[in-house]
Amino acid sequence: MSLSEIEKKIKFKNFVDLSKEEALQVLEYRNLPEIRKNMLTKEIIREDDHFKFIDGLKSDRRKEYYAVVFNEQIFGVVNLTDIHLTNQSALWGFYCMNRPIKLAGKTMLWVFLNFIFEQKEINSIYSIILESNKRSLDVHKLFGFEVYQSKDMINLVLKKDDWLKKYSEQVKQFIESQ
Ligand SMILES: CC(C)(COP(=O)(O)OP(=O)(O)OC[C@H]1O[C@@H](n2cnc3c(N)ncnc32)[C@H](O)[C@@H]1OP(=O)(O)O)[C@@H](O)C(=O)NCCC(=O)NCCS
Repeated sequence: MSLSEIEKKIKFKNFVDLSKEEALQVLEYRNLPEIRKNMLTKEIIREDDHFKFIDGLKSDRRKEYYAVVFNEQIFGVVNLTDIHLTNQSALWGFYCMNRPIKLAGKTMLWVFLNFIFEQKEINSIYSIILESNKRSLDVHKLFGFEVYQSKDMINLVLKKDDWLKKYSEQVKQFIESQ
């Protein structure tokens, strides 16, 4: 299957529309040690806090969380926080839960960036990575993110023009060549 065909089959299901089972599935992965170790908030998230959080998203215009679905199966989570409508920017975050397709992580992120820059009024995506998260740093560099600060955390940014004019196609070719 080509990447464009896979893209058509990937859906972003807003957390506020998840069933109870789906919300619990997402929480289970978010609480796994190998996911938590790469997150800025490392504590185990309790079930009732998770449901309160999802409920709060309904009235929070600065945050959007999506389960990433392929063939009816949730395989990742992507989110935008700190959404600023005035300067058209947001911070993104993500984790991959399982691998129904080859290069599941990069594919999910490629589709998400196309979705953000083509369908939302956002011109800059910011990212914060822990220094220890080499895998994520490599992915960000491949995707055209530029480091603008690096102390305990690595701060990066990707501009809409760079993505649409250069990196979207470049990453597509990379994924299809693997
Ligand atoms: C960052 C992330 C989404 C994508 O990373 P990635 O390495 O580019 O992932 P890809 O899906 O493109 O995988 C590339 C290859 O690495 C290997 N790999 C990646 N993740 C793996 C995993 N969880 N288990 C086993 N192998 C894995 C596989 O060989 C894979 O190739 P394949 O899909 O053909 O088998 C994923 O590593 C992740 O969820 N990390 C934890 C959460 C996180 O760090 N989030 C970002 C915070 S800033």
